[in-house]
Amino acid sequence: MTRIALDGMVALVTGAGGMIGAAVARRMADGGAQIALADRTEPPFSGPALLGGTSRAYAADLADPVQVRALVDAVVADFGRIDCLVTAAGITSLGAFETITPEEWDRVHAINVRGVFLAMQAVIAPMKAAGFGRIVNIGSVLAKNGGNPRPWLDPEEQTRAGNAAYGAAKAGVHALTLYLAKELAAHGITVNTVAPGPIASPMTTGFPEALVRQIPVGRLGRGDEVAGMVAWLCARENAFVTGEIIDVNGGLWMD
Ligand SMILES: NC(=O)c1ccc[n+]([C@@H]2O[C@H](COP(=O)([O-])OP(=O)(O)OC[C@H]3O[C@@H](n4cnc5c(N)ncnc54)[C@H](O)[C@@H]3O)[C@@H](O)[C@H]2O)c1
Repeated sequence: MTRIALDGMVALVTGAGGMIGAAVARRMADGGAQIALADRTEPPFSGPALLGGTSRAYAADLADPVQVRALVDAVVADFGRIDCLVTAAGITSLGAFETITPEEWDRVHAINVRGVFLAMQAVIAPMKAAGFGRIVNIGSVLAKNGGNPRPWLDPEEQTRAGNAAYGAAKAGVHALTLYLAKELAAHGITVNTVAPGPIASPMTTGFPEALVRQIPVGRLGRGDEVAGMVAWLCARENAFVTGEIIDVNGGLWMD
């Protein structure tokens, strides 16, 4: 795997206990970054074991504004600054549109879009003070393609893989990316989103084989394939790419 140079940078990675967040943390550490790994309090998060060295783990509910502010303050106190924020914390939500309850809608939005908004807002001040920053969110193909199921062919797919609430939350992340990219462009801060297609992980357990066959590359993606793009966007020299939603989806959706 090509090393992407991130020497001396400090990166806060949320959802670092998950498949994609852990892959991002590993890839960025391989590039020489110091990593602050954040994930929820329960079950106990074993971040330091993941990377060793100068990395540190932080437990927080990233949907809670007070905890997000405290997390960012703690990382700045421990490492002196935050060069990169990667928001990989998220949850899935499955089911047909007509079965989505308001409670389920709120549960998904609380972390998948409000959590991203809170984390981005919290790092603005330290990044502005440094005159440098890289923010990379993890969006989704599901914010673009109306979902993967084909109910006209197989109604069962809708209950196993339908995700309208999730897709709406991720579309919010895509939109926030564009707004913040413009607001921060003059401060040396780039804001981008990587939008993966289905990645082999607990989140895609039970993903129907028929839907895998819709992916032109012919398989689910891997966490390290998402991580490579995230690391590239965080590199110092990539200062002219901002406000982009970059697909990593094996050709499932092309725009
Ligand atoms: N796996 C996929 O196919 C896929 C595709 C597109 C986008 N994504 C997105 O990528 C991101 C990572 O997904 P993943 O596959 O690694 O999932 P994952 O379930 O392995 O990891 C998600 C992590 O987020 C953490 N988390 C969730 N809610 C939290 C909260 N309130 N506070 C703190 N931490 C919280 C979880 O504890 C978990 O460790 C998510 O935003 C997901 O929506 C995943």
